[in-house]
Order: sequence, then structure tokens, then C-alpha cells
Amino acid sequence: MPTHPLFALDEIEAGTARKVVIGDREIALVRIDDDVYAIGDTCSHDDVSLAEGFVEADDCMIECFRHGALFNLKTGEPESLPAVRPVPVYDVSVVDGQVVLTIDEPEDDA
Ligand code: FES
Repeated sequence: MPTHPLFALDEIEAGTARKVVIGDREIALVRIDDDVYAIGDTCSHDDVSLAEGFVEADDCMIECFRHGALFNLKTGEPESLPAVRPVPVYDVSVVDGQVVLTIDEPEDDA
């Protein structure tokens, strides 16, 4: 499975999100405390970047800034309307202080 070292954990503030582009994928990396979550960056309701939304750290969710849909960062499932379809989730870990993303599916399956 391809792994992608991205950046140092210290480069992303807790409670914030950052968008990265890996091949043809746009992925939102979200830090909550010392944990990092990775979900598809495009809201399933419309073409909007979830990384520009609001991190709900207590509930481990991110809120789309446009219409307020909440997405579970662990499952990618929408927890509120108007979004009804999930976004993908990706394996991400912190290795020696570096955020490392693992993508286990072909990049050209869109
Ligand atoms: S674009 Fe995200 S909830 Fe509508």
C-alpha cells in the first residue's frame, strides 16, 4: 500500500484541518489533540472543501461551512442533513512526529 509522508504533526494546529492533494484525490487532514483523521475533502452535498469547515473536536466531526452538514471523521458518514452520502476515509498515522497517509486503493478508480 502506498504511503505518503505529508508534514510534521506540529505544522497543523489542534482543532484545525488542512487539505492535501495526492494524485487525483483531495483529502482533508484533521487534527484533534494528538490524533489525525483523513477524509475525502469534497463535501458529498456539493463541491465544497471540508478542510475549510469547522472542526467539532468533542464529537470528532467536521462541519461543512456551506450548509452545515456534519461528517464523522472516523467513518466519513454524514451525521446531519443536507448531506446524505458518506465521504471516503483514509488511514493516517503519526510516525516519528510525521503525519503519514496510507492509500490502499488505486488512484484512478474515480
Ligand atoms: S455543500 Fe456541504 S452541506 Fe452543502
